[in-house]
Amino acid sequence: MPNPLVQECIARIRQRCPQVPDLGIVLGSGFAEVSSQVDVAADWSYGDLPGFAKASVPGHAGRLLLGRLAGVAVAVFAGRAHYYEGHGFDLITHPVRVLSELGARSLLLTNAAGGIRSGLKPGDLVVIQDHLNWMGTNPLRGGALPEGFVDLTEVYDAGLRQMLHAAAATLGCVLPEGVYAAVSGPSYETPAEIRALARLGADLVGMSTVPEAIVARQCGLKVAALSCVTNLAAGLGGRISHTEVLAHGRRLGPLAASLLNAFCQQYSRTVLSGQP
Ligand code: HPA
Repeated sequence: MPNPLVQECIARIRQRCPQVPDLGIVLGSGFAEVSSQVDVAADWSYGDLPGFAKASVPGHAGRLLLGRLAGVAVAVFAGRAHYYEGHGFDLITHPVRVLSELGARSLLLTNAAGGIRSGLKPGDLVVIQDHLNWMGTNPLRGGALPEGFVDLTEVYDAGLRQMLHAAAATLGCVLPEGVYAAVSGPSYETPAEIRALARLGADLVGMSTVPEAIVARQCGLKVAALSCVTNLAAGLGGRISHTEVLAHGRRLGPLAASLLNAFCQQYSRTVLSGQP
C-alpha cells in the first residue's frame, strides 16, 4: 500500500532533482565526514522533507544529499532519528522507505557502537555480519505485511560485505566482522547486561541500525552495515560518556570517509558494471 508521507517526500525531492540513487548511505556518529566527499546534485535539511525528524542529538546532522560518490549515484542521509529520542519506528525508518521508493537497490548503514568482543577497541571499524534485536519491539509491528513475514536469514548481504572487505584491503587494513546487538537506550548498558549480551553472541552494542535494516529487507533492498567502535562496552573499560563516544567518532572520520569512498569504487566496479 503506498505510504502518503513517502509519496509526498518523493514529490518534494523530485521537484528539485531527478537523479535515481543506486545506493543509500546512512551516516551515524563518526561518519559525518563522508558528506564532504559527495559531489552534490541537491540537498535538503530534514526539516524541509515530509516525514523526516529534525536531528536533535549532538553529532547527528540532519541532511539528505543526492549526488555522486566515487561514480555511484548515492542518497546520503547525514544523521538519523533514534528510538531513544522518543520517535516511533515509522519515523525512524521513513528514510529507508523513501530511499527504496526513489529506486535505490542497496543501503549501507553506519553507526557508533560499544565493543563487547575481546580484542575490539575504540577506533576499530567492524562489518556487521548479523544482529540481535534487543530493542524489545520490531519496526514492522502493526504494519501491513504485503509480502508476508520478512525473512531475516541473511540481513547483511554477503556480496556487499565482500565489497567492504575489498575496499579495506585497498587501504591496507583488515576489517573484523561481528554481531551487533541493538538496544533501545538512551542509557548505556549495565555490566550485567553486557555480560548477558556477550553470552548471547553479541560482539558490539548500539542504539540504531537494526530497525532500518529490517525495514530495508522488507523493501527488498540489499543491506550492509558498518560500526565504528567508540568505547569498550560497560564493565569492560572505564565509564562511558557521550562526549568520549563523539570524540572517538571524530578521530575516525578520515578513515571512515576513505573506506566509504573505496567501497563506492568497489560498488561501481562490481554492481554497476555487472562484474563479479
Ligand atoms: N552502548 C550502546 N550504544 C552505544 C555505545 C554503547 O556502549 N557506544 C556507542 N553507542
